Amino acid sequence: MYRWGFALICLGLVSASHAHGPMEIDEDLLKFVNGASLESGRSIYLTGKTESGVGVLRKGGPHWLYVHGGSCKSCHGEDGRGGEIPHMCLMVSPAVTWKSLTGDKHKQGGGDEGHKHDPYTLESLRMILETGFRPGGKRLDECMPKWRFTDDEYRDLVAHLIEMDMTLQK
Ligand code: HEC
Repeated sequence: MYRWGFALICLGLVSASHAHGPMEIDEDLLKFVNGASLESGRSIYLTGKTESGVGVLRKGGPHWLYVHGGSCKSCHGEDGRGGEIPHMCLMVSPAVTWKSLTGDKHKQGGGDEGHKHDPYTLESLRMILETGFRPGGKRLDECMPKWRFTDDEYRDLVAHLIEMDMTLQK
């Protein structure tokens, strides 16, 4: 297990010198995000496009998303904490920072009954984002689009989900 400071150096963040408490990052995860582009991950989260302007493929979700554009941020919030009912949707969006998705508890933001789930792994998270099905078969609400990531896009997005935990800790 590594401390966040180390992970952040690997992620290329300069702010690594700040002590962010005892959050730990797993070695496999660290290997996975090694070489990720945080810029691109952030951009995918905020705008639905990579840093070079390529739109991530997606299906479903509300019509306005296609008319006005947008991405994860539009529904899960800039800080990933969720907790609001997205426009034209019927339910509260859950928190989607890495820790809230992979930890035992899902407390932040929309941590209501509807969002209880086993901790996600790198594989099961990608699966739910791409298919809309939780491990075990329960389907996500239609409001949440289905995404089709390249391996690089998914890696960069995961790096940003981790980065949002850092920001929340500050
Ligand atoms: C139009 C609104 C909208 C957009 C855009 C959106 N989501 Fe969601 N998302 C939701 C809602 C609502 C849910 C809850 C669905 C449910 O519980 O059935 C959800 C569920 C999820 C879940 C499952 C969480 C859990 O607790 O099981 C993840 C992970 C997630 N979204 C990540 C993302 C990411 C990453 C993006 C961008 C690539 C994104 N979402 C874009 C609305 C959205």
